[in-house]
Amino acid sequence: MNMKPIEARSGNYNLKNYEETYNDFNWEDVKKQFSWNETGKVNIAYEAIDRHADDPSMKDKVALHYSAPGREETLTFEDLKKKSNQFANVLDKYGINKGDRVFLFMPRSPEFYMSFLGILKKAAIAGPLFEAFMEQAVHDRLEDSEAKMLITTPDLLERVPQDKLPHLKQIVLVGDTTGFEGDQYIDFQKEMNEASESFDVEWVDLEDGMLLHYTSGSTGKPKGVYHVHNAMIQHYATGKWVLDLKEDDVYWCTADPGWVTGTSYGVFAPWLNGVTNVIRGGRFSPDDWYETIAKNNVTVWYSAPTAFRMLMSAGSEPVNKYDLSSLRHILSVGEPLNPEVIHWGMEVFDKRIHDTWWMTETGAMLICNYPCMDMKPGSMGRPIPGVEASIVDNEGNELPPRQMGNLAIKKGWPSMMRQIWKRPEKYESYFINGWYVSGDSAYMDEEGYFWFQGRLDDVINTSGERVGPFEVESKLIEHPAVGEAGVIGKPDPERGEIIKAFITLVDGYEESDELLEDIRQFVKKGLSAHAAPREIEIKDKIPKTRSGKIMRRLLKSWELGLPTGDTSTLEE
Ligand code: WTA
Repeated sequence: MNMKPIEARSGNYNLKNYEETYNDFNWEDVKKQFSWNETGKVNIAYEAIDRHADDPSMKDKVALHYSAPGREETLTFEDLKKKSNQFANVLDKYGINKGDRVFLFMPRSPEFYMSFLGILKKAAIAGPLFEAFMEQAVHDRLEDSEAKMLITTPDLLERVPQDKLPHLKQIVLVGDTTGFEGDQYIDFQKEMNEASESFDVEWVDLEDGMLLHYTSGSTGKPKGVYHVHNAMIQHYATGKWVLDLKEDDVYWCTADPGWVTGTSYGVFAPWLNGVTNVIRGGRFSPDDWYETIAKNNVTVWYSAPTAFRMLMSAGSEPVNKYDLSSLRHILSVGEPLNPEVIHWGMEVFDKRIHDTWWMTETGAMLICNYPCMDMKPGSMGRPIPGVEASIVDNEGNELPPRQMGNLAIKKGWPSMMRQIWKRPEKYESYFINGWYVSGDSAYMDEEGYFWFQGRLDDVINTSGERVGPFEVESKLIEHPAVGEAGVIGKPDPERGEIIKAFITLVDGYEESDELLEDIRQFVKKGLSAHAAPREIEIKDKIPKTRSGKIMRRLLKSWELGLPTGDTSTLEE
């Protein structure tokens, strides 16, 4: 494998010289780009949509190209302004106030984007949920956030345990509502038809809440990562420097808005920059994906390593069918981008794939590769201007180049989460000595490039999706046959990691393929397909510490045939 740096060829459109920009940078200058209402206040949805809709040269520009099997739709900035105004009026009518949590549980669709923007215009807090979530996953998130309203489809409503959610008062249904009797049900289309297209955007402070994204850690239930309107400063800036967006770009981010990439970079970064945004519904298929690029003339494409690896293994037959010459800039996020994929990208697209590193908690990109910079395959790149990154030890002391440690960011970048919902002690636990400690291990080389090494906790990253072992273990032990369970990520060449469960069987149950499949389905139906273990192994005992914590690290060593290390805390 050729590991030489790949030289910058074209350079950035917006960031001409990385060093110069980095050294002479002030977030206050970025703030000047926004329109600042005369009140001195803001609203991220206004900046993303209305500002362009109110500009005669921009209002008829396509904001959203939506396509899914059986449905295509195009909305201009003006269309989206009106539709989101209508939905904000619906929220108003039903008594939604600033700070109320309004969740969305639906497939990617134009209605999703109208409602999402409407929620923000009303200064409520939006909580997007991935459509593949099943009952328990939906319940945990709606319960913890005390969501008052949910926007969903009649089909998905089956997975919403309404009787166990006392705070959930209203359900907006997108789709055919025949048969839904009761005051709690609101017909999306009917209300939209009746609502006014004008709405006085609710101006908020930069520190007012806008978004709750639930994500997994290694212990406990998923946590609500709380973001505020201030994040738009970084969404806008990284859209410029890293996505390198310019006026005539057609941009496609493949992530679902149930995950942070699908909001920060599937909604905010492109629209704050006034760029046409392609949204594709439906499932992954190499043909559909290449067709999406070819048909829409996508110029900037943001995706993930697992998707690239799946395209890679689909071979040259599908790729050769389409004209992909519109592509100008390709980026990746969510998991380690292996050099093989970068070299494949050079061959197939004649373009470098630019890695970016960030997390749900960080709200936006922090460490990236830029077109203007030489790229070292395997490295995540260098911090964005305005951000200080380092490698620190467990006390928060900086380590010298090449030494592995905690990847950490100096506290205070614009899009940083402001709370873990209702768990202040959890929030505080991220910070040591003024550094946000990411939970990733990495090192930095002499030229300031960062190299990802792995997670320091037990969080699993499967196909770029973050799965908490605790959540899977808790579901597993609800199955009548399962006594104890320990869950780990097992390395996988395509998906990064797959979920592997070790379980003990309750007396009276015998191991069989049917039983294992039944257990797998049980997790799938309770949580989601991506959280279901692909492998289950039966053990006599699950190793635990004397205080009863599952020793996942030991399970992992067993799985990988590695030395087991310190086992002094292992119970008898
Ligand atoms: C991992 C996704 C290697 C990392 C935006 C991080 C990466 C977690 C990269 C966050 C990358 C993200 N290289 N690993 N370029 N980007 N990760 O919250 O472990 O779903 O902590 O956010 O994904 O996942 P999350």
